[in-house]
Amino acid sequence: MVTSEARRRSPQGSWTSRLAFVLALSGAAVGLGNIWKFPYIAGVNGGGAFVLIYLVCVFAVGLPIMMSEILIGRRGRRNPIATMGLLGEEESGNRKWSLVGLLGVGGSFIILSYYSVVAGWAVAYIFESVSGDFAGANPDQITAIFGGLTGNWVASAFWHTLFMGMTVFVVVRGVVQGLERAVRVLMPVLLGLLLLLLGYSMVEGEFVQGLIFMFEPRFDELTPTGVLSALGHAFFTLSIGMGAVMAYGAYVPDNVSISATSVTVVGMDTGIALITGLVIFPIVFANGLDPAEGPGLIFVTLPLAFGNIPGGTIVATTFFLLLSFAAWTSAISLIEPVVAWVTESRGISRPAATIGIGVAIWALGLLSVLSFNAMADVNFMWGTYFDSADFLTSNIMLPAGGFAIAVFAGWIMSRRSTAGELRLTNPAAYRLWRFASRFVAPAAVVLIFLNAIGVLGWLGMGG
Ligand code: TRP
Repeated sequence: MVTSEARRRSPQGSWTSRLAFVLALSGAAVGLGNIWKFPYIAGVNGGGAFVLIYLVCVFAVGLPIMMSEILIGRRGRRNPIATMGLLGEEESGNRKWSLVGLLGVGGSFIILSYYSVVAGWAVAYIFESVSGDFAGANPDQITAIFGGLTGNWVASAFWHTLFMGMTVFVVVRGVVQGLERAVRVLMPVLLGLLLLLLGYSMVEGEFVQGLIFMFEPRFDELTPTGVLSALGHAFFTLSIGMGAVMAYGAYVPDNVSISATSVTVVGMDTGIALITGLVIFPIVFANGLDPAEGPGLIFVTLPLAFGNIPGGTIVATTFFLLLSFAAWTSAISLIEPVVAWVTESRGISRPAATIGIGVAIWALGLLSVLSFNAMADVNFMWGTYFDSADFLTSNIMLPAGGFAIAVFAGWIMSRRSTAGELRLTNPAAYRLWRFASRFVAPAAVVLIFLNAIGVLGWLGMGG
């Protein structure tokens, strides 16, 4: 039995201020999802109308689930598996809710195994940019640079190893000395770099064309799949559904407002995704390139533009530094729930646990590295290991976790518990949250699932 004394603090420690928590959670949210994925999926889905639906999903579904996940984390004050078991027991006499935590810890493990590989490419591109490799390059040369990186498993594995090392380096030091210290430096720098790039694209890019592309709602370009990928991306970009937010929630001091921080973080994440679009599309248009390029938008199209614009080397370096920092603070949030679980359940020290888990994720990540070369033809459930890991986590595990969290907070937890954690002074705000948690969020997730099942029909076409 956990005493009330132990419930006041997580065994891992706690954030030293509200700002520290906001930075850590924004760091988790802002990542490859915002800078790499969002612009390209907005691009392939025609821009404006997609962006509008995405905004609705983020605020109507994502925000209430984020609040639920933080409040569960803070109430449990343990790693996600222990927290869900503990609260399940308290609220409904059923410890089996710990399975939701297990889904999250397992999902975070798998996500990091492919996330780290793409993040490694971002780090590699800092060096490509600095050495002037993009300057004046033609499309074939740019494609060859990207192909040379992804196609060469030794190179790709090297950057993946470096990135996992950077992640472990921070997390080994613990919540305050590691995570908090890293985000206090990285997040302000990230914001600064982004604003510099925005200034550049306003002056040198086709800014108005970029604005129109992103905000003019052309509904004829939006497909049902586009709507569902907006919903799926809302989960991914906010880091909800996988226990990462729950783990961070366990470190939140009692006097911090969950609703206010959630609104701030969701606003930051959305703002950064939109600003990134306003950096990328004007540069893409100014160079007569295709906004609907797909996953290669950041690694092929953009470097092509960087190679042909004034100050391109500096702009490219800034951009990939930004991308790497964003990925770094997100990777930290993906390994933390696993580390918290192993240290708390096995009594292993944080450094030993972090290094062990880091090595395990790194090893699984080698399958992602090989997905672009030696194992490109090896089919897992949904294509290569990389495609399958992405599909399984983004389209199945994430929505399942989000559904369970919304249902648990909305239907299983008592009004007294949730109202006590949220402490919303406005009764209408509480009712709105509860309505969203009970009805809107679960219904939206069922939609993503139906889509996933439909796609499952065409085995091998996911990713
Ligand atoms: N949100 C991050 C991004 O946009 C990725 C991420 C970090 C994540 N932690 C997560 C996604 C937990 C799902 C669950 O890049």
